[in-house]
Amino acid sequence: MQETATLTLGDKVIQLPVIIGSEGERAVDIRSLRKKTGLITMDPGLANTGICKSQITFMDGEKGILRYRGIPVEELAENSTFVETAYLLVNGELPSEEQLKEFSLLLTEQSLIHEDLKAFYGKFPSRSHPMGILSSMVNALRSFYKDLKIDNEEAINITLARLMSKVRTMAVMSYKISRGHTVAYPKPEYCYCSNFFYMLYHSPVRKREINPLFVKALNVFWILHADHEQNCSTSAVRLVGSGRVNLYAAISAGIAALWGPLHGGANQAVIEMLIKIREKGGKIKPFIEKAKNKKDPFRLMGFGHRVYKTYDPRAKIIKKVCHELLASLKTNDPLLDIALELEEIVSKDPYFMDHHLYPNVDFYSGIVLRALGVPTNMFTVMFAIGRMPGWVAQWKEDADDPKWKLYRPRQIYIGKNKRSYLPMDKR
Ligand code: ACO
Repeated sequence: MQETATLTLGDKVIQLPVIIGSEGERAVDIRSLRKKTGLITMDPGLANTGICKSQITFMDGEKGILRYRGIPVEELAENSTFVETAYLLVNGELPSEEQLKEFSLLLTEQSLIHEDLKAFYGKFPSRSHPMGILSSMVNALRSFYKDLKIDNEEAINITLARLMSKVRTMAVMSYKISRGHTVAYPKPEYCYCSNFFYMLYHSPVRKREINPLFVKALNVFWILHADHEQNCSTSAVRLVGSGRVNLYAAISAGIAALWGPLHGGANQAVIEMLIKIREKGGKIKPFIEKAKNKKDPFRLMGFGHRVYKTYDPRAKIIKKVCHELLASLKTNDPLLDIALELEEIVSKDPYFMDHHLYPNVDFYSGIVLRALGVPTNMFTVMFAIGRMPGWVAQWKEDADDPKWKLYRPRQIYIGKNKRSYLPMDKR
């Protein structure tokens, strides 16, 4: 029997259906609420609002669970590659050997950038943030490539490959061009992650080997970032996409949303915070006190999450990768020592314990990226490259829905009541 929720408003009683997900999550379906009562709901920050039913990613913030298409992220990080995980997210199933081979080939084929598009890079001021450049350039893709109709598996994979591949090229390009360096295109014999390093490190005068440990670490980094259900940037992609704009524009909006320091920009902000702590003689306590001070807007970057009220499962994995990578390279990063000490202090501090604030994925990921030789202002771009499959999968889920609706929230108006326009001499 369908479970219902009963809402009493004065002498009016209405029943609202309860929707139950495959993992037992429950939601009161309020779609008929306004029609039946004239009321809307109020939920700033949408912390209690489900905006869709989804088959892509499951997370349980209380238990620290994250699964893509049912597969635990820990298993994917251990056994899969970013390319295979991307295929899984968008197509719903792991690829066969043949499908994976074809998809990998597509990724190389789609990596070229129109020469006219390349010329845009030179017009950005030299200090432009790579996230701003990337968002603009992805939006510009629509002027160079056809609108995408992804109504069959082949078209879906071409679309995904085009975005994943071009975004990787454009990301490296924004960095290389900002430094006045030439840009190399990927090599067909390299995998997706190796090609990223090949392009990033490429120099006509200096050969640099690609370390397989780096390739493994980058695969894990991108797998962990590949999707995270209805977060800020993914909701932006769905919302902008709901106006039936082209996919490039929707993804461009997602990149812009991700840029913020409360969201994907936190990976850069964490490193900047750790550097500041180091510059202040490594004294952590004043930063912790500042974060607890309600009159101070400062927050400990890399801590807290809207959904996870326990340790972010991605943070656990990336922390391990961080230790393993630095140990294999026989190197030490003083920022890791500060990060570990910071986490240790925070884990015993009643404020952070009471608020359920644990490290999130961004806390250790920047230290990994530093070890891989990625410049700090590129960190959020690295996140964006990783999130591409998730954005495409989520956009597609909306686009495939025959009841796909325009996102259009409501408000409670608290402004001035009706009044007359005053001519200039009467104001
Ligand atoms: N440092 C200090 N206090 C914090 C922090 C923090 N990092 N995060 C949350 N709080 C406190 C708030 O001050 C608030 O306290 P109060 O209830 O006593 O007023 C309480 O915890 C709840 O905070 P909200 O902002 O309401 O929680 P929300 O769920 O909206 O915040 C967010 C989640 C934005 C991630 C927050 O924890 C934060 O700002 N963290 C730092 C930035 C960061 O690391 N972002 C990356 C998130 S992961 C990702 O997007 C990839």
